[in-house]
Amino acid sequence: MIVAGVMSGTSADGINVALVRIAGPSRGPYGHDLTVKLLGHAEYRYPRNVRHFILSAMNATRIPVADLARLNFLLPELYAEAVLATEKRLARKAKLVGCHGQTLYHQGEAAPFLGRKLAVTWQSGDGAVLATRLGVPVVSDFRPADMAAGGKGAPLVPLFDFFLYRDPRRGRIAQNLGGIANLTAIPADASPGEVLAFDTGPGNMVIDAVTERLFHRPFDRDGRIAAGGRVLDRVVTDVLREPFFRRAPPKTAGREEFGQDFVRGLLGRCRRARASDIVATATALTAQSIAEALRRFVLKKPGQYQDYIVSGGGVRNSTLMTMLAKQLLPLGLEISSSDKFGIPSEAKEAAAFALLAYQTWNRRPSNLPSATGATRPALLGKISYG
Ligand SMILES: Nc1ncnc2c1ncn2[C@@H]1O[C@H](COP(=O)(O)OP(=O)(O)O)[C@@H](O)[C@H]1O
Ligand SMILES: [Mg+2]
Repeated sequence: MIVAGVMSGTSADGINVALVRIAGPSRGPYGHDLTVKLLGHAEYRYPRNVRHFILSAMNATRIPVADLARLNFLLPELYAEAVLATEKRLARKAKLVGCHGQTLYHQGEAAPFLGRKLAVTWQSGDGAVLATRLGVPVVSDFRPADMAAGGKGAPLVPLFDFFLYRDPRRGRIAQNLGGIANLTAIPADASPGEVLAFDTGPGNMVIDAVTERLFHRPFDRDGRIAAGGRVLDRVVTDVLREPFFRRAPPKTAGREEFGQDFVRGLLGRCRRARASDIVATATALTAQSIAEALRRFVLKKPGQYQDYIVSGGGVRNSTLMTMLAKQLLPLGLEISSSDKFGIPSEAKEAAAFALLAYQTWNRRPSNLPSATGATRPALLGKISYG
């Protein structure tokens, strides 16, 4: 079956569409003998005003409800155009679509609200509108079912990592560098229950924010600004003492943890530093927080992991990649990009949501309780028939 995956991440940079073919026998509760082959992918930038609206909505304490309702109907129009354009370019048509939607708010940890303790999440982009435009079924809203089962609603990509990377002899760590950085650790010959996955902290989000603030550009292209700056080591060390980095997995992060307030704090600590030094420092924070998470929570038994496979937009930031490589060298991990495993780094998350839609369509679960903290595997998402 050809399935399209549509992803728009916390960077709010745009829409990634992947077309995948899923086939083969299925074994166990997760059907993990299926083969997933990428047929192609494409990336579409959000129009500038849409991006700005999304970013302001994510950070808003007050915003007209009417505008949020409008966004919920605008996004599927953009998603539909993106899917149709990709199908046209690849001369293939999807029979099913998995659409993540745009997260406006995510709070994986339960907190009091009106006399109850709740964990909540909200992805905008209505599935019924998208299904109607495309004329095929759409699975959307993947996160709530995991949270209803006691999970944090994230990360959900680990099942895809497990399908793609599990190996009888090599232990592998998949690292995604989106707005947030998250990893999936799959020991050699692992069963789904042995997969460890969590958010390590910021990926590009803080780098993007300081670059926007100080250089009026949406991101540090190829890491050029950071390459000309000097890292303020003391600031990185101080920030890494914050509770998020010390907390044991399962854990998730988003703009709630590493958005405007966090960036304001970081800029405050960097007072008087040159603007390029601050971008370099934000870049080092991503690299060092990842290495720290690996040392603290993942690399417990020597020799358990060999490969470190990187994906996401951050792969294109060469300064970040150089800093990361330097951090990982003493940890004995061999770094490669997900391109080597048949999935270009910018296509991986979109391809993952195609697989998740296929799972739901076939009444199979796709959350890994060891990754999200849920009490059981759950069928994720809502189906709109189109
Ligand atoms: N050429 C590039 N140089 C540096 N960074 C880049 C480049 N291209 C993309 N990025 C970074 O990747 C981010 C988008 O990554 P993505 O994987 O789409 O994240 P998300 O899933 O959060 O949307 C951009 O915001 C930017 O920070
Ligand atoms: Mg993106």
